[in-house]
Amino acid sequence: MATSEKDVFHRNKHVKFFQRCLQVLPERYASLDTSRMTVAFFAISGLDILNAMEVLDKDKPDIIEWIYSQQVLPDNKDSNIGMCGFRGSSTIGNAFDYREAQHTVIPYDSGHIAMTYTALAMLLILGDDLSRVNKRAVVEGLKSLQLPDGSFCPVPEGSENDMRFVYCACCISYMIADWSGVNRDKVKKYVKNSLSYDGGIGQGPGLEAHGGSTFCAIASLILMDELENTFTPKDLKRIKTWCILRQRSGFHGRPNKPVDTCYSFWVAATLQLLGLFSLTDFSSNRTYILSTEGHITGGFSKWPDHSPDALHTYFGICGLSLLRESGLNQVHAALNLSQRAADHLNNIHRQWGEKPS
Ligand code: FPP
Repeated sequence: MATSEKDVFHRNKHVKFFQRCLQVLPERYASLDTSRMTVAFFAISGLDILNAMEVLDKDKPDIIEWIYSQQVLPDNKDSNIGMCGFRGSSTIGNAFDYREAQHTVIPYDSGHIAMTYTALAMLLILGDDLSRVNKRAVVEGLKSLQLPDGSFCPVPEGSENDMRFVYCACCISYMIADWSGVNRDKVKKYVKNSLSYDGGIGQGPGLEAHGGSTFCAIASLILMDELENTFTPKDLKRIKTWCILRQRSGFHGRPNKPVDTCYSFWVAATLQLLGLFSLTDFSSNRTYILSTEGHITGGFSKWPDHSPDALHTYFGICGLSLLRESGLNQVHAALNLSQRAADHLNNIHRQWGEKPS
């Protein structure tokens, strides 16, 4: 059968798309200035899944320095220890030199749990060994973010709390191989209580089930190695049914909502973690993802004929990786980064096991 233009995956255009994301962004991204770390993560992890890390060879050392410059470190008296982690950018005026920053605490400066997760993930992708991560401070930062119901806030000042930040806490703890910042029993209870009447999992107890929160919940339990200890076989069957019913052509995030490219990761990755992804329709999923590809600029959008953005480009490519698109690196579904980076993490953990860092 002849391949039509619609079936072509424009890999090189996506490489260029992510390179542009790392240099200059359109005005509509201005509101994300405090969350630059996550945008950088989409681009860098995206280049990794595209197997194009060589385009970062020259800039890699500077990017690693920039990530470390966003680490919120404790002062000499540990007065800000509960505020530690990584921030999303230096919008509030932090020093670039992280050694200098160690002695100057800027009021209201704190880590953000999603920035800490994406910073650690990027360091791994870039081949760093996490030796300059202040793990004690990261752990203390996490402790100050967990609420009595087991969920997490993103920042110590208090904010919304939900399953997204539970997932970030689990990824961080897994990556630093230290779970002392997380009360795991409380997390299990929070996740269990968030199982909705229809079989999906919400952002919290009593909330509508959603593909994003279902991913965060299942991936968190897998990272804790607690899936079967939290849900009964009957619960798991209901969760699997709910997830598999989310496929239309691509996937949607909840019943009666339109299909969106990013759920070809959130829901498909959940199905892979639950061992059911092979039962989905690969061909219609791939066709949907490719229908949202920006043929001129590269990138993916959530719907056909819309503007591509960094998030949907990243998750579209991860979705294609789950489908084993040729030329793409494999994605580690629970950590949401490449298997290559997860293998590097395993090596680091092995070294820590031999000689604690
Ligand atoms: C859209 O809601 C919401 C998303 C596309 C994000 C879903 C993903 C998560 C909640 C996981 C996030 C994880 C981390 C670690 C931050 P909508 O109401 O606009 O779209 P809908 O109609 O498709 O539900």
